[in-house]
Amino acid sequence: MKKQLIIGAGGQIGTELVLALREKHGEENVVAGDLHADCPRAISNGPYVQMDILNREKVRSFIIEEKIDEVYLLAALLSATAEKNPAFAWELNMDGLFTILDLAKEGAISKIFWPSSIAVFGPTTPKENTPQYTIMEPSTVYGISKQAGERWCEYYFNNYGVDVRSIRYPGLISYTSLPGGGTTDYAVDIFYQAKMGHEFHLFLK
Ligand SMILES: NC(=O)c1ccc[n+]([C@@H]2O[C@H](COP(=O)([O-])OP(=O)(O)OC[C@H]3O[C@@H](n4cnc5c(N)ncnc54)[C@H](O)[C@@H]3O)[C@@H](O)[C@H]2O)c1
Repeated sequence: MKKQLIIGAGGQIGTELVLALREKHGEENVVAGDLHADCPRAISNGPYVQMDILNREKVRSFIIEEKIDEVYLLAALLSATAEKNPAFAWELNMDGLFTILDLAKEGAISKIFWPSSIAVFGPTTPKENTPQYTIMEPSTVYGISKQAGERWCEYYFNNYGVDVRSIRYPGLISYTSLPGGGTTDYAVDIFYQAKMGHEFHLFLK
């Protein structure tokens, strides 16, 4: 059975993805990794490792020693949060990706999943029936990092045969996890804030 590692497993997508993968491949074969010292409760039914994707050497040795076959790289700074700290967002969103792409290039990993986003599009992209191949001039650091990431994934596939897959998610909202800094998370956050009796000021124009 292949061993999978989900980096950024404690977030919105990770908490649901880890459970789904464990159901499919067995709890012991799906390792969850995130910054938190303690394993998030929602994914405590299987192995957990505290991991900072920016600690390249530690991530490398863990993946090699534990003989991880497939990596789902979810650790990132999301759109709204990234705008508050563009330099760090660029570092986190790109350096982490290179660490994993390089491991695959060296043959240590056989498959990568790295989600992209509709943030790769921008104000000049056609708004109706947006085509897959079209004008892409993202105006946020998050969108720029996702667009650059897509190009690098393709580069590693074309030049080194790296099996890396990606899909451009729209703004996902969830009832199982708290809003986490995405542009569309306000749609859920307004209810949490209202329930706590707080005001909510929307950052969108
Ligand atoms: N949720 C969406 O609507 C959406 C849409 C498009 C793309 N995506 C992409 O999907 C991926 C996951 O999104 P999400 O909504 O689950 O995000 P999230 O913010 O809910 O979760 C990200 C997780 O990464 C962890 N993390 C942050 N820095 C880390 C580091 N240095 N090392 C290890 N872990 C770290 C965080 O602790 C968090 O648990 C991201 O790449 C995001 O860009 C999400």
